[in-house]
Amino acid sequence: MTMKVTLSTSDPLSVAADLAVIGIVEGSSPKAGPLATLTKALGPVVSRTLKREEFTGKKDQTVEFSTNGQLKPARVVLMGLGQGPVTEAQVRTMAAKAARVAQASRAATLVLDVPQGVQSSVGAGGGERAAAEGVVLGAYRFTRYFTGDRQPKSTLDRVTLATAGRVSRESRAAVEVGQRVGEAICIARDLINEPPNELYPETFARFCAELCKERGIKCTVLDKAALTKRGMKLMLAVAQGSARDPRLIHMVYTPSEGKPKKKLVFVGKGLTFDSGGLCIKPAQGMEDMKGDMGGAANVVALMAALAALQLPVEVHGLIGAVENMPDGNAYRPGDIFGSLDGKFVEIINTDAEGRLVLADVLAYGRELKPDLMLDNATLTGACIVALGTLTSGFFTSQDDLADKMRRAASEAGESMWHMPLLDELREGLKSDWADLKHTADRWGGSITAALFLREFVGQTPWIHVDIAGPSMAHRAYGIHPKGGTGHGVLTYLKLIDVLLHEV
Ligand code: BES
Ligand code: MN
Ligand code: ZN
Repeated sequence: MTMKVTLSTSDPLSVAADLAVIGIVEGSSPKAGPLATLTKALGPVVSRTLKREEFTGKKDQTVEFSTNGQLKPARVVLMGLGQGPVTEAQVRTMAAKAARVAQASRAATLVLDVPQGVQSSVGAGGGERAAAEGVVLGAYRFTRYFTGDRQPKSTLDRVTLATAGRVSRESRAAVEVGQRVGEAICIARDLINEPPNELYPETFARFCAELCKERGIKCTVLDKAALTKRGMKLMLAVAQGSARDPRLIHMVYTPSEGKPKKKLVFVGKGLTFDSGGLCIKPAQGMEDMKGDMGGAANVVALMAALAALQLPVEVHGLIGAVENMPDGNAYRPGDIFGSLDGKFVEIINTDAEGRLVLADVLAYGRELKPDLMLDNATLTGACIVALGTLTSGFFTSQDDLADKMRRAASEAGESMWHMPLLDELREGLKSDWADLKHTADRWGGSITAALFLREFVGQTPWIHVDIAGPSMAHRAYGIHPKGGTGHGVLTYLKLIDVLLHEV
């Protein structure tokens, strides 16, 4: 069942709901606004509680009141917004936290105060859209495999976004769009959280084909025979050890009206499970490798979001869906394979499989002659060592693209850091026996992985995003639940906006 999100100009404290969440700018006067309304209804307990809990509206502070029938909402949570202008990203995060509080306390209805004057790059309705995105993202749960007591007892199914501004056709449309974007990101999370016995290349491709059919997106799937015919030898090499055949999934979004202004290719690493192959991973944490298709999941989410937004771009979504397993037939260190590009690659470590799959998919994408090709992948542990688990690293062949990407990530509120493509390290990929080997030494592992990918993009303007850290979360934070996050999708949507607005 989908959540119903509506806009209202009523004072949030006068709307009947199980829970009201109100943002408070740091240092707000208690004599005006919601604090005054609350004090009028509940009396001096309000200021006493604020004092006791040292609530001043600092970022991330919260305080809760039961209204005991004195106000329409049964409970009120005040949430600190900190100082300075409120951004879209802050509204999104606040809304997500509000929805999480609602779910945790079994509230079925929530009224959320949308702060005024939100700084937004999408213009009017930016705050409303971000709030709708946030509540959908915050309410997310993955419950498919729970029965009986483990099933959720209640669901947040109705959200009222209270805005002091006008409710216009535009603002209502913004809420609708926000909800669809939020739902699209939840598709990525579902795919990441889905277990690898259920989601493997064939079922992944089937899922994409069905989703695309529902949303007017074109979808072509290349099976093993088609991949062989094309000469995608690196992708096939990784798949050799698995009983599950690989798939290349090619989705194409075009706007239903008007001529597209740009042609873009988005590529995702789709390892439905990465055991490491013959260079097998240690057992501890291996279950997380069901999420080694986070990049591919993001591509699916992006396609779904585009269908809702109807942006004037042509976007190709490419997924290399493969399972990496050890087996009598598995590829080995020492093996040499050709590639779609033509270069020969010597295999060193079968656990560095992602870059092999991506190499062939990038070479395939390059043929589409896009204005920009972006790949995203849970590619290296080294990127997590460099940046931590909350931040992804991006690499690009062009400085101007780095600026655009930085802007997009910052406006989207996603933590991404520009990493260098150090030419000095290229030497590490030299092989004695073939054109290239696919790994260098331990040091700078996320950089040498990116340098390897660069060998396959030709002259195409290109961005590579290593999302190994933030694609899955070990605990809920910000807009993210525990498990699959969809980190990246909001930035890619902003990047498309940035590209569409450049002169
Ligand atoms: N999928 C992993 C990278 C990864 C690790 C993602 C942890 C998310 C969390 C990738 O295929 C891998 O195994 N990379 C190796 C490369 C090495 C063998 C050169 C790594 O990072 O250790
Ligand atoms: Mn691996
Ligand atoms: Zn992997």
